[in-house]
Amino acid sequence: MGRLDDKVAVITGAGRGIGREIALLMAREGASIVVNDLGGNTDGTGTGMIADDVVEEIRAAGGEAVSNTDSVAEVAGGEALLATALDAFGGMDILVNNAGILRDRTIFKMEEADWDAVQAVHLKGHYCCSRPFARYIRDNNRTGCRIINFSSVSGLIGNFGQANYGAAKAGIAGFSRVLALELAKYGCTVNTISPGALTRMTIPLRENRGENVGEEDLEQGGPQHIAPICAWLATDAASGITSQIFHTGRGGIAIMQQPAVIKQFHKSAGVWTLAELDRYVPQLMAAKQAHDQAVKEGAMPVEVG
Ligand SMILES: NC(=O)c1ccc[n+]([C@@H]2O[C@H](COP(=O)([O-])OP(=O)(O)OC[C@H]3O[C@@H](n4cnc5c(N)ncnc54)[C@H](O)[C@@H]3O)[C@@H](O)[C@H]2O)c1
Repeated sequence: MGRLDDKVAVITGAGRGIGREIALLMAREGASIVVNDLGGNTDGTGTGMIADDVVEEIRAAGGEAVSNTDSVAEVAGGEALLATALDAFGGMDILVNNAGILRDRTIFKMEEADWDAVQAVHLKGHYCCSRPFARYIRDNNRTGCRIINFSSVSGLIGNFGQANYGAAKAGIAGFSRVLALELAKYGCTVNTISPGALTRMTIPLRENRGENVGEEDLEQGGPQHIAPICAWLATDAASGITSQIFHTGRGGIAIMQQPAVIKQFHKSAGVWTLAELDRYVPQLMAAKQAHDQAVKEGAMPVEVG
């Protein structure tokens, strides 16, 4: 008995890295898997057949899987993903929007193509794969489905040299909150993962700092640490959890705060004068600092063994 028996999961960018680990774990838990990956380079150029290798791995372990090499950056690709799931397994229950690329540059050097390529795969890619699935859920009244999206601290907090990627990843968090509202009546949850894992996306950053990444590092910080929360969010145990952002990696599992008003003043008549703002903005800033400090203290990890 697996926790995902009889479920059909489509996982984008599952030919390697985090997506591959999610595909392997969900298959072990009994889901039938569509392994999507166009098999390109980290910057989004090129193609390859790596999705087939993951399909072989799943089948060799006794699971069910088929591959799909369409790009998530076009709606036609998202529609083909749904069609692949329906043809192979007769339905679709879980969508993991994991595919991603990087084109890191500071704003001074960022060309339009770097901006567009990253938006296309990440932010638009989430739309392209979610829209066909959402329509399928509505048209078939298929209840209990799951969408799991991939954001990043780059967008949720900020990271130097990643304006294109950070903007897309922050956009994905906003996209997820809206989808959670729109799909709630079908019992479909929409949650977001902020991962931290050693993959081909992040290993070069470590190596550029002169750090070696060895077997032990990969064991402690590899993409296998991201898969469990994704699989768990797809189970029945998570049916009441939606519109949340979980940060995970290296043995950590955390819930992140989301935009909310911390403190406010209200004036019953007239617009704020600049002199009044001289008085009240520092009080807002003080409330923000106290809030940030409380959040920082609450975020200290609790060791659980
Ligand atoms: N590794 C981290 O620490 C980290 C941190 C924050 C966010 N993320 C996010 O997690 C996700 C997975 O990252 P990863 O580290 O496993 O990267 P990865 O490069 O190992 O894997 C990403 C996969 O997506 C595929 N892909 C790229 N463009 C595609 C497209 N248009 N259509 C279909 N497939 C496509 C690639 O071929 C690749 O196999 C990404 O969305 C990434 O932005 C990763």
